Amino acid sequence: MQVIESVAAFRQAYDAAAKPLGLVPTMGFLHEGHMALVHRAREENATAAVSIFVNPTQFGPSEDFATYPRDMDSDLAKLEEAGVDLVLAPTVDEVYPAGFDTHVDVGRIGERLEGEHRAGHFHGVATVVCKLLTIVRPNRAYFGQKDAQQCLVVQRLNEDLNLGAEIVVCPTVRDSDGLALSSRNVYLSADERVAALSLNRSLRLAQELHSQGESDAPHIRQRMHELITTSPLADIDYISIADANNLNELDTIDRPALVSLAVRIGKTRLIDNVII
Ligand code: PAJ
Repeated sequence: MQVIESVAAFRQAYDAAAKPLGLVPTMGFLHEGHMALVHRAREENATAAVSIFVNPTQFGPSEDFATYPRDMDSDLAKLEEAGVDLVLAPTVDEVYPAGFDTHVDVGRIGERLEGEHRAGHFHGVATVVCKLLTIVRPNRAYFGQKDAQQCLVVQRLNEDLNLGAEIVVCPTVRDSDGLALSSRNVYLSADERVAALSLNRSLRLAQELHSQGESDAPHIRQRMHELITTSPLADIDYISIADANNLNELDTIDRPALVSLAVRIGKTRLIDNVII
């Protein structure tokens, strides 16, 4: 496995690499959710590449960029074990050199949900993903359904700017108790970990109500709200039931809907979603 820090060196490795090449973009601190993407990229491509870069431009000024969990040695050991060929692990200066001044704005799809609650977040995501897809030039790039809106943003970006990758969306990996795996779960205390289960429970409630024939979105949102607020540690950012293709909020569930939510458990902000 080759670990590469510079864009120039990656370009050389690219030329020498067998194709097709699959890329899994990550911010590191890898867990089984990330590794599911890595295993899939390994299976489906002659060359498996992973990027590890904690991207400062997608964190707001009051967010956790400085304290975001990092463990490069453990990440590299996991990737080596998984049979990854190339790791791109650039510094911030390599990705954003002095004078850097171009930003990618994905428009409408990035303005809702996470975009509304984390100003500038998707500008940062779109800019860095655009750069990563341009540097690495993968045939396939793998993303997790856990970040459903990010998948839509990346699909839009890839299509609009002709970046030429096939965007592969992989299912959300959960702990046995239903909590979606996230690098931020390490912030949770034991009590908070229990409170965090309300996210998945409320999504399961939405699925259950819908499968019983309920199509009134405000009613389902209300029931999810009630379930989550029974926990004193939970503070809801949003609960959304939206058209899964364009993220317009729905009154009636009459098409594939993305049920998604963001909840603060203590100081930790968690997101989760399901499609019904
Ligand atoms: P990060 O949060 O490290 O996630 C990297 C990839 O792993 C994303 O596509 C994410 O959706 C996926 N992932 C995380 N948890 C998952 C889970 N429990 N199940 C399945 N997939 C999961 O998302 C980012 O980094 C960044 O925004 C990035 C795309 C790398 C741009 O900086």
